[in-house]
Amino acid sequence: MEGKESNIGSSSSTPNLIAKSKPYTTQFQGFSVPSEHISSIISFQKHFQALDDDIIIATKPKSGTTWLKALVFSIVNRHRYTLSNTPLNFTTPHLLVPYFDLELYKENPNPDLYTIPSPRIFSAHLPYPILADSIKHSNCRIIYMTRNPFDNIVSYWHFINGMNNTLKPSLEDCFETFCRGEEVYGPFWDHALGYWNMSLEKPSNVLFLRYEELLEDPVAQTKRFAEFLGFPFSMEEEKTGMVNQIVDFCSFNNLKILEVNKTGKTPGPKIPSNKLFFRSGKVGDYVNYFSPAVERLSNILKEKLSGSGLTF
Ligand code: A3P
Repeated sequence: MEGKESNIGSSSSTPNLIAKSKPYTTQFQGFSVPSEHISSIISFQKHFQALDDDIIIATKPKSGTTWLKALVFSIVNRHRYTLSNTPLNFTTPHLLVPYFDLELYKENPNPDLYTIPSPRIFSAHLPYPILADSIKHSNCRIIYMTRNPFDNIVSYWHFINGMNNTLKPSLEDCFETFCRGEEVYGPFWDHALGYWNMSLEKPSNVLFLRYEELLEDPVAQTKRFAEFLGFPFSMEEEKTGMVNQIVDFCSFNNLKILEVNKTGKTPGPKIPSNKLFFRSGKVGDYVNYFSPAVERLSNILKEKLSGSGLTF
């Protein structure tokens, strides 16, 4: 298999991705954030005013963000759109649920977001500590999804190599950068811990879940999201199969064959095609790429997360 690298994780003299790619990321408030988004992050922190009914989808890149956006959009808008006329049929989930830093605060440091119909649904790859204070002090809901770190690395590696980008790291580069906690929006452990701790402290505001849990039982998780967001499914909806219809519509196999996700293009020069967001959609794909590395990163995670109750 192309890209299969069986000895990743040996402490090799791998070229340093960050050094090579400077200034792709910059250390900002304890995390490696994309340098090109620093000014929009600062604007977001300064100006964003959260409303109590806002919904925020938070993830580290390549954790299933696109899927979660489609599900949440469908749950919340199910009385506005049927599945045959939902804008998801012709619009990427990324445009329907925009990112704060990558989009909303990019062009305009203080956009008027009050015109967005309620409940507003936003997304962020930003770690919890970097979110605007108004989010932390509001009653808004955050759904955070994380993913098996090894699958996350492999997914990211495919993604970044598929982008219109001069950056073409090897899988080994990605792995080493990740182990140092210097990957985009990393460290992984601090990213996950921030939301994990908040989900324990404020369970009615922060829901923590894993890609693997969603894949294992999407119907149960979809009902859980709906409850958490204050849009529970009625008995009638359950009886008529509404939950299953939403789950099926948002499934990997369905979303990836929609024309917009096959050949459409997200605005911006970096993503050549929306199909880059749909690769294999599996759990455990990493075993095809590396195995000696598993123990090394597992040990790092054990140490970094020790005492938190969070495990991977
Ligand atoms: P793989 O590269 O492992 O296939 P993000 O949306 O955060 O960029 O994450 C992309 C990952 O989610 C990719 O993982 C992609 O294939 C997977 N994915 C996208 N849509 C999905 C869906 N509807 N169901 C399951 N996985 C999905």
